[in-house]
Amino acid sequence: AMRQRQELLKLHETAADIYHHVLLNTEAGEEALHYLKERGMTEELIKEFEIGYAPKERILLQKVFERDNVSDELLAESGLMTERDEGFIDRFYQRIMFPIRDDKGKTVAFSGRVLPSETVDTSKQPKYLNSPETPLFNKRQVLFNFDKAKAIARKEQELILFEGFMDVIASWRAGVKQGVASMGTSLTNEQINMIKRQSKNVVIAYDGDSAGIEATHRAIDLLSAQTDLGISILSLPGGLDPDDFIKENGEDRYREIMKNGRESPFSFYMRYHQKGKNMKNEQEKFAYIETMVKELAKIPSVIEREVYITQLSEEFSISPEAIESELQKVKQVDR
Ligand code: GTP
Ligand code: MN
Ligand code: MN
Ligand code: MN
Ligand code: MN
Repeated sequence: AMRQRQELLKLHETAADIYHHVLLNTEAGEEALHYLKERGMTEELIKEFEIGYAPKERILLQKVFERDNVSDELLAESGLMTERDEGFIDRFYQRIMFPIRDDKGKTVAFSGRVLPSETVDTSKQPKYLNSPETPLFNKRQVLFNFDKAKAIARKEQELILFEGFMDVIASWRAGVKQGVASMGTSLTNEQINMIKRQSKNVVIAYDGDSAGIEATHRAIDLLSAQTDLGISILSLPGGLDPDDFIKENGEDRYREIMKNGRESPFSFYMRYHQKGKNMKNEQEKFAYIETMVKELAKIPSVIEREVYITQLSEEFSISPEAIESELQKVKQVDR
């Protein structure tokens, strides 16, 4: 198994080098390179993250691995190939390739992004295609850019959670380098443990669209139930994701909002549950307060809870004692 692992790592390293070479140095990679540059990607960043391109013909890795006499068994295990009656062909094609690395910086998987082009029907193709689960890659245990972010996170004492690759990379370009991405899936216990070991604080910087807002709510619940990490939220306006935000508002504004524009989980919950509600309507107001008391019950820190109780009590002119007693009721039901 050790031996197989080494061999699979070798295949991934070879694949990453080839995809990267194709993107930077060949005609086949020109369109993709142009697209990335349009999106603000520099050559330096492309090298830093070893971004690549898998061309249309599905024979790039096939030929190299055939030359190297790689066994069928290994090809099948690698997740890099697709088996057909005629033999193995490349799994990834016509995609921009992002190597996904383990915590030691070894490439263990890929994610490939389609090019927005007339030749690809993006309604039939996923925007990002990931490696399947392999002996190297358990997606529950990997965070994109964790290998590089962890040292910086330890120094800054915070780790930033993004949704996507492009958010991590755009943020890196802006000098905010302690970012990782869970790659679209809901945060797992394993990922939370990885974060916990590096940092006392975590910033959730998901997309500002409705999917991102829902995912933020879920992430706060998960993180506060399982850790005593300090949690803050970067909520971006106008449905933007961090990459879009930087593009529209510039890096200075991004660094500024990263530093001073964060909110607490409770403020996030307040905005979240008030949205679309009329607080002048008594019924809706009471329902809202009830929901907020339930959210309060999830916060483990007594001190934090006190602060939020005061906030809620002042906003709605209810005594802190009344909120506290409602809170005790909710907690009893929970048990
Ligand atoms: P760009 O359009 O390149 O800026 O991507 P994005 O990161 O903004 O994409 P989005 O916000 O839609 O999704 C966030 C993350 O979810 C992506 O970075 C991917 O990791 C993941 N994701 C998005 N679409 C898919 C998909 O079709 N399949 C899979 N497996 N993952 C996806
Ligand atoms: Mn390499
Ligand atoms: Mn999104
Ligand atoms: Mn996005
Ligand atoms: Mn995006």
